[in-house]
Amino acid sequence: MKVLYAKESDQLSRWAADRFVEQLKKNPKSILGLATGSTPKKMYEYLGEDTRAGKVSFSQAKSYNLDEYVGLASDHPASYHYFMQEQLFSKVDFPEGANTLPNGVAEDLDKEALTYDRKIQEEGELDILILGIGSNAHIGFNEPNNVFEALTHVVELDESTRQDNSRFFEKIEDVPTHAISMGMRAIMQAKEVLLMAFGENKAEAIRDLVKGKVDPQVPASILQLHPNATILIDEGAASLLSEEDRESL
Ligand code: F6R
Repeated sequence: MKVLYAKESDQLSRWAADRFVEQLKKNPKSILGLATGSTPKKMYEYLGEDTRAGKVSFSQAKSYNLDEYVGLASDHPASYHYFMQEQLFSKVDFPEGANTLPNGVAEDLDKEALTYDRKIQEEGELDILILGIGSNAHIGFNEPNNVFEALTHVVELDESTRQDNSRFFEKIEDVPTHAISMGMRAIMQAKEVLLMAFGENKAEAIRDLVKGKVDPQVPASILQLHPNATILIDEGAASLLSEEDRESL
């Protein structure tokens, strides 16, 4: 696991966007794994600019997202479908039908989770996956637990996650209690994983991920076992690490 540091988060977003551009140049039919939330927004903005400038094309690529809230339809402004449409899909040239997210309003949610997992397995592996990290060290919505969940599953969100994400809703009661999340198998099988963390409220999670032991109570710590994972941290997120724990970008 490589830990890359830059003072400013924009430098890290640019670096991560460049990795996606290189991957798409190497294999235009790449299968991309995508995250939502505040962290990847700038990277998606860069990818939109690069597409407009003709530096990259998504015209043969496909994508799978990490998660979706249970109970929010794709046209709900706080849904991850909506977020992705706004932040990336409308800004780049994916073909119709190339973007898949779990359906949070499926009648049978467990079946939807397993179907989603099977779809990813049928693709083979994700070529490159971008992750954020929760302040409780979740990746996707794999919350701290006694076990690492292998498959896509329905998860009850931690109170801390609901608090953290309440900024996207009018009030805390509106934050869904459950989500469908990609499991650890698809994450660990991705050929390349980039995890970005910005700001001091991620510092403890980053310290535990980088310095702690592999422990399902620190879900992101599983990345210590990934053969090609890069952790990208800004000044705030790096504040509980020492200089020898990280390389400068
Ligand atoms: C989102 C996801 C989550 C977020 C994490 C950080 O699809 O899977 O793990 O990456 O909650 O969120 P932000 O970036 O908003 O701090």
